[in-house]
Amino acid sequence: MKILVTGGAGFIGGNYCHYMYEHHPEDTVVVLDALTYAGNLETLQPLMDQPNFKFVKGDIRDRELVDKLFAEEQFDAVINFAAESHVDRSVEYPSIFVETNVLGTQVLLDASRKYNVKRYHQVSTDEVYGDLPLDRKDLFFTEDTPLHTSSPYSASKASADLLVLAYYRTYKMPITISRCSNNYGAYQFPEKLIPLMISRALADESLPVYGNGANVRDWVHVYDHNSAVDLILRKGKIGEVYNIGGHNERTNLQVVETILSQLGKPESLIHYVKDRPGHDLRYAINPDKIMHELGWKPIYTFDTGMKETIQWYLDNKEWWEHIINGAYQNYYAEMYKDRQ
Ligand code: NAD
Ligand code: DAU
Repeated sequence: MKILVTGGAGFIGGNYCHYMYEHHPEDTVVVLDALTYAGNLETLQPLMDQPNFKFVKGDIRDRELVDKLFAEEQFDAVINFAAESHVDRSVEYPSIFVETNVLGTQVLLDASRKYNVKRYHQVSTDEVYGDLPLDRKDLFFTEDTPLHTSSPYSASKASADLLVLAYYRTYKMPITISRCSNNYGAYQFPEKLIPLMISRALADESLPVYGNGANVRDWVHVYDHNSAVDLILRKGKIGEVYNIGGHNERTNLQVVETILSQLGKPESLIHYVKDRPGHDLRYAINPDKIMHELGWKPIYTFDTGMKETIQWYLDNKEWWEHIINGAYQNYYAEMYKDRQ
């Protein structure tokens, strides 16, 4: 199979390329990535010289470039990981989220249709379902939960999902969609909760917890997310949506405490700051469909995954120090200046 992986220089797409090399070295992977602030070629360095791997720098919004690439490569499948992915940035700069996440998706759908791609897979998110109350532990997102978004990020992802479903219904395009909860693991950009807290704790800097730290996220190791995406690609039913999650709900405070305890750092580093506007309270996935219909099973618990992840950040300081020593410093100063 020849697969186009968009956003392959980012966190999840990059890990997917490593997953493919490990599990399906017979397949060819072509990465299309614009190398925005979130894209990092160092993540793909070990794969760059592999014969079945190719990197193309380019923007999914660029119709001409995308059309030419599809004409040349004749892909069997497309997996769209490319997106603007950080909720806080979407609060400050919503337009780029609509442009990349909605219009970029449409460009990829049009090219996939024109060149008869056998499968288009959209990597979506549980954030399209909005949030659940903190005091109803019995409630979970299923694939039938209505879309009800909170942030410009989640609204753009839900819009993209609707376009994908419209192309299925109208043009009978062979699509699938996955909606996963919060990922963690190697190569995650340090604007997201876990790598941000690890890198700051290691520098003995304050850890900015939004609100009272009671918001809940349902954590999935990136390896398990990617094994699910790969399973959907190979065995998923056309036109279907699959939720991905491993029943690993934790409050943000619990996550930060886990990090501090493993790093041997004091809880006095925790600093409660102004809440995120529109902050979703709780995400919790019901993964029964993908587990029962496709046989997916995560291999990580939150404890094993966090131990390995924190160790990875300790062992790979160069990877994230290159990031935080660059433009990221301005990002942190700008984004957190009004939160104190
Ligand atoms: P990321 O921000 O780490 O990576 C995004 C990648 O897309 C980067 O390499 C970036 O350069 C690239 N990109 C951005 N705009 C582009 C454009 N216009 N053209 C081409 N490439 C572009 O994101 P991530 O955390 O790896 O998320 C990947 C996908 O998974 C996203 O669609 C996101 O919505 C979804 N998702 C993320 C999570 C999570 O917890 N991180 C959970 C569920 C779903
Ligand atoms: O649920 C899937 C989604 O998970 C993905 O679709 C998004 O791309 C991904 O970014 C993630 O969204 P969140 O907003 O949940 O992730 P983030 O790491 O930004 O924040 C996790 C929680 O931690 C959230 O409740 C906000 C809180 N937080 C975050 C940061 C960056 C803090 O308390 N302090 C912080 O500095």
